[in-house]
Order: sequence, then C-alpha cells, then structure tokens
Amino acid sequence: MQPTTGAPPESLRWIGGPEGRLDLLDQTRLPGRIEWVSCTDVPTVIEAIQSLRVRGAPAIGIAGAYGVAVAAGEAVRGGLSADAARAHVVGAANAIAAARPTAVNLGWAVARVLGILPDGPAAALAAAALAEAMAIHDEDRRLCAAIGRHGAAILPEGDVLTHCNTGALATGGDGTALAVITTAWASGRRFRVWADETRPLFQGSRLTAWELVERGVPVTVLCDSAAGHLLASGRVGCCIVGADRIAANGDTANKIGTYGLAVLAAAHGVPFFVAAPSSSFDLTLVDGAGIPIEERSPAEVTAPWGQPLAPAGAAAYNPAFDVTPARLIRGIVTEHGVVSPVDAAGIARMLGRG
Ligand code: MRU
Repeated sequence: MQPTTGAPPESLRWIGGPEGRLDLLDQTRLPGRIEWVSCTDVPTVIEAIQSLRVRGAPAIGIAGAYGVAVAAGEAVRGGLSADAARAHVVGAANAIAAARPTAVNLGWAVARVLGILPDGPAAALAAAALAEAMAIHDEDRRLCAAIGRHGAAILPEGDVLTHCNTGALATGGDGTALAVITTAWASGRRFRVWADETRPLFQGSRLTAWELVERGVPVTVLCDSAAGHLLASGRVGCCIVGADRIAANGDTANKIGTYGLAVLAAAHGVPFFVAAPSSSFDLTLVDGAGIPIEERSPAEVTAPWGQPLAPAGAAAYNPAFDVTPARLIRGIVTEHGVVSPVDAAGIARMLGRG
C-alpha cells in the first residue's frame, strides 16, 4: 500500500477559548496564495460564507456553527445581560443560516448549536456554542473517513471524473467524493482523476486540482464543455460528485453543471455517484423541485476576478447549483454505506441506521 504523499489541507480552525476566533483558509486566493481570514465578528463570518472564502456544504455548516460561537463571544465582550445575549446570538444565528440558501448543512448546523444553548449568562452561551461547534467539526472528520471507506469499496475500475471541489477544503475532514478518490488511491488503486474546471468560479481547477497535486494523485483539468467528448472516449470508469442538498427521493442539488454531467454520463453508460454525509439530506422535501437554488452575481460570469470576458451591457445567467434527478444516480455514498438503487425507501432505510 502506497500512502498519499501530502496531508489534506485544513479549511478552518478555531483559535483560543470561548471568546476566541474562527480562522478560515481564504479559498478565493487559492491556488496562488495561502491566506487566512480571521473572524472575530458575525458580519465577517457572513461575508466569508457569501463570498466563498469558505465553501462546500459541510464546511459552511461548520463555519456557521462556529459563527454562532463568534456571536456569543461578541455578547461576552459587549457585557450583554443574559436576555440580551440570547437575543443577540439568536438574531446572529438566523442571519448566518440565511447567508447561502442551497446547502442544507448550513441551517442544520446552526440550528443544532442553537438547540443546545443553556439558559444563563453570555459566558455560558459562548462555552456551550463552542463545544457544540467543535463536536460538529470533529464528527465531520469521522464522517468523511467513513464516506471515503464505503465509496472506495464500490468505486469502479478506471479513471474518475469529478466536478467542483469536494475535498478537505469543502469539509472538516478529508472530503466526500474526493475522500472516496483519495482513499481508493491510498489503498493502492491507480487511475487518473479528471477534474472539470467548474465555471464560473473554477472550484475544480483552482481547488480540486490543487488538493490532488498536493497529495500526489494524478489529475487532469478539463473545460466543463469537454466532458462529453471525454466520456465518449471510454476512458472514464465513473463520475463522482458531492451534494449540497438531497431530497427524500434522492434528487440531488450540487454545483451548476452537475446535472449536465449526469445526463452525459447516462448517455455513455458511465455510472454516476454522489457522496455526502447524512446532514446533506433534507427529508422535508419529497423531491428536488423544492430545493432553493442560489443565483449569484452576473459579474462572476462576465468579469471573473475583475477580468472582462463579455461586453458591457451583456446580461448573464448565474445559477450556482442545479438538481440531478435520482434516476441518473447509480448510488449515493453516505457515512452509513451506499444507497443503490437511489429511491425514497433506500434513503429512509440508510438514514435510519444513524
Ligand atoms: O458554491 P460552492 O463552492 O460552495 O459549491 C460546492 C459544491 O457544490 C460541492 O460539490 C458540495 O458543496 C459538496 S462539498 C463536499
């Protein structure tokens, strides 16, 4: 067995005690620069989530959970009474949960921290919020490892095509779909990873390729529009992606372009897998039609990083996510195992094991 050469990068960390701060690896700067953003107040946390300094469904959930601890720290430093501290933390938590709409993990993690807050002074809220956020972070490390093991066991032979970034940068651990890939690699399997560049924000070329190069796994970046040609060539054994929200029937919201990739994979008989923790499922939605899809600034398409790529006056359509119907998904890898076929009964059974 040949280990991977590099350790996975850390996407976020808490510094200090209950009145400490949240540090985020600024993913908008990668791969060129390693810069950390320090969050000592709630507006900085919200800005970091909205501008994708921290991104990926599990990672924004963890950042949101720590964000509640940041709010409680503000209440301590501001000398707020117990009632005022609670009102401040609840208001901040609601604002954090609303920072991005599609990934269900954000609201889930924030609600989990709010749910355990004791009655008492600001200092008690801060200690409890931090402990719960750290528990969510720790759990995510274990979930990623379990997803990696379950997925590696069923990963078909051949090269792997992935979309967006689902690695350590997107989670509190080793990743979801990318953990499947790196776990299979670490067990001695050999293949090439094809990484869609993932327009318009290039999470595939900037982040997935960076993580894989750092870990010594061979990666080739391709334009999103080259995926059909690549799949037609027969070189790819499977596609595997992450998820931002999975409805009860398995319909899956993920980064824009995932749906098109799943259609192409089906057209060429290439199995298409999703990997996600149980916190990415939203069983209140019977299917994907109810998943809120974030629309982002047209400027991300027409002038990414300030570089004009379209004439002034051209409009742009910039949905950040799309929904892949369950019928196009061969299996969903969770921390409990693999749901296949993907349907409401299989998902309910799998999540019932938690
Ligand atoms: O807009 P982003 O970069 O936050 O979108 C991320 C994705 O779509 C990921 O594929 C998804 O969150 C899964 S991350 C393990």
